[in-house]
Amino acid sequence: MPIERVGVIGAGTMGNGIAHVFARGGYQVTLCDVEQRFLDRALATIGSNLDREVAKGKATTEDKAAALKRIVPVLDRAQLANCDFVIEAASEKLEVKAEIFRDLDRICRTEVVLASNTSSISITKLASTTKRPGKIVGMHFFNPVPVMRLVEVIRGLATAQETFEAVRDLAVKLDKTPVEVNDAPGFVSNRVLMPLLNEAMYAVMEGVATAGAVDEVFKLGMAHPMGPLTLADFIGLDVCLDIMRVLQDGLGDPKYRPCPLLIKMVDAGWLGKKSGRGFYKY
Ligand SMILES: NC(=O)c1ccc[n+]([C@@H]2O[C@H](COP(=O)([O-])OP(=O)(O)OC[C@H]3O[C@@H](n4cnc5c(N)ncnc54)[C@H](O)[C@@H]3O)[C@@H](O)[C@H]2O)c1
Repeated sequence: MPIERVGVIGAGTMGNGIAHVFARGGYQVTLCDVEQRFLDRALATIGSNLDREVAKGKATTEDKAAALKRIVPVLDRAQLANCDFVIEAASEKLEVKAEIFRDLDRICRTEVVLASNTSSISITKLASTTKRPGKIVGMHFFNPVPVMRLVEVIRGLATAQETFEAVRDLAVKLDKTPVEVNDAPGFVSNRVLMPLLNEAMYAVMEGVATAGAVDEVFKLGMAHPMGPLTLADFIGLDVCLDIMRVLQDGLGDPKYRPCPLLIKMVDAGWLGKKSGRGFYKY
């Protein structure tokens, strides 16, 4: 089945980026969130990110207008009924995603592949909430989506080969590089990255060094483009905490316990760049 109309659920940091790249790739996009203000914010962000592409000579003003025209914001999930592919990028909570997958299973045609952009939650578990487990797959983009090349394509236990291939081919069409990964807590990227970020938070909490000093060590000593605490702020500290909890629950090893400073900051509403305050002020 050719994919022309794409549904994106969740218009936050990742959902707006995913809508952006699909619209730039020529797909019709239906972007769904729970409140109009989130949709408005997403369209404003996409507009300014497209402006950046225009300024860099990667797109024309006509390309920008055409991409924006291809994105239809909706509050009613039922409007995804005509989509040929749907990707979920809602909050990193199993109960939120499970409810969405159950509902999409009811709304979308039986042949439609349903993907999740989850950073860590089991694709196998999400698939089990539907009557089409063979059509459920992980399509894990990276932040910022228009810039980052990698897409982890995650096979759940029941993911059919044709589903995996459809999403791998879709990633290539979006000019991304797909990498095949099996379903496990945090997959590869966050299994390895998130404990690093969490350990950097422990170093700050224990007074080993300031956030700025920890970040300098990684930028200058390891040639990382940004330090772990800046990266955590960009990812969103709530998302980091959710992922650490999935690693802790799923792998059971105490080494995955979330840093108490991270928990405290999330409790305070310091979520990083998106809330204006995290390890740094924005
Ligand atoms: N932030 C990152 O760097 C990053 C990277 C890769 C993957 N992810 C994953 O992408 C997903 C989204 O993360 P994010 O950073 O964009 O989060 P975010 O908090 O910026 O955005 C989440 C959006 O989902 C919406 N939402 C919540 N429940 C919904 C529902 N039932 N229906 C429709 N929309 C709903 C929220 O209103 C919000 O706009 C998560 O699974 C996360 O783990 C995040």
